Amino acid sequence: MSFEYISIEGVSHRFLSRNRQPTTALTDVSGLFPAGKVTSIVGPSGCGKSTLLLIMRGLVAPAQGQVRFLYRDAAGALAPGEAPRMATVWQSFNLLPWRTVADNVAFGLELQGVPLAERRERAAEAIRSVELAGFENHYPGQLSGGMKQRVGLARGMVMSPDILFLDEPFGALDAQTRLYLQEQLSALVERHAKTVVLITHSIEEAIFLGDHVVVMTARPGRIAASLPVDLPRPRDLDVQKDKRFGELFAEIYGLLRDEVRKAMMN
Ligand SMILES: Nc1ncnc2c1ncn2[C@@H]1O[C@H](COP(=O)(O)OP(=O)(O)OP(=O)(O)O)[C@@H](O)[C@H]1O
Ligand SMILES: [Mg+2]
Repeated sequence: MSFEYISIEGVSHRFLSRNRQPTTALTDVSGLFPAGKVTSIVGPSGCGKSTLLLIMRGLVAPAQGQVRFLYRDAAGALAPGEAPRMATVWQSFNLLPWRTVADNVAFGLELQGVPLAERRERAAEAIRSVELAGFENHYPGQLSGGMKQRVGLARGMVMSPDILFLDEPFGALDAQTRLYLQEQLSALVERHAKTVVLITHSIEEAIFLGDHVVVMTARPGRIAASLPVDLPRPRDLDVQKDKRFGELFAEIYGLLRDEVRKAMMN
């Protein structure tokens, strides 16, 4: 049995609040996100991207619809199966303030019961990969926003999950660090052929890292388009000079522009 797709099937969700009108965050979202590929999701602020992530992670039950993980059996048929191993880099970092950088990164491994020596080794490697060597014993309160974000990234990568969910993983970084880590992530993805779902506000980042780009509409969010990124791998940042990159950018920007205006008006 091989894991083939994250299948999002007619998912709608609304948030109820005591003193306000309910907020419809998602309406009838359906899509197949292929395993071993990077699915980038772009859409205006508030369109429900983080909500969709919570639903895919099984942390929020959708009002309607479902998310299933599809596997191909020996006979070639697709059937739903149990959730693969997943890790998430949250938009708001979610670091534990009373733990050091090293202990934050190793936290998930600890929950899995990984022995101490292996935990230390894997955490150290992940910390090096986000260029934070030397800060192992710092506490989150002693770090800048960008550094906290890199700890969050290390904490996701250290798990070597089957699916890595990334919610704006580079949002708080300066432009240079962002470019550097985008290249690192791209190399990682190519080496391990990971299933990655990347939420980002940056069209360039969505294209550079993605195998396809899913464009969502203004709230209530729906999937407006899914565009394959037909640029060769391995990619480095020079791919942004490719004519095809410019065409994809224009196409996605065209789809997003009206949605962003709508999102700002409601
Ligand atoms: N816990 C909650 N209670 C009430 N409303 C919520 C809650 N979480 C999200 N919402 C609402 O649902 C909508 C979608 O929110 P969500 O965070 O999924 O958007 P997003 O696309 O991730 O936005 P951004 O790009 O700014 O991160 C928004 O209108 C938001 O106000
Ligand atoms: Mg969000």
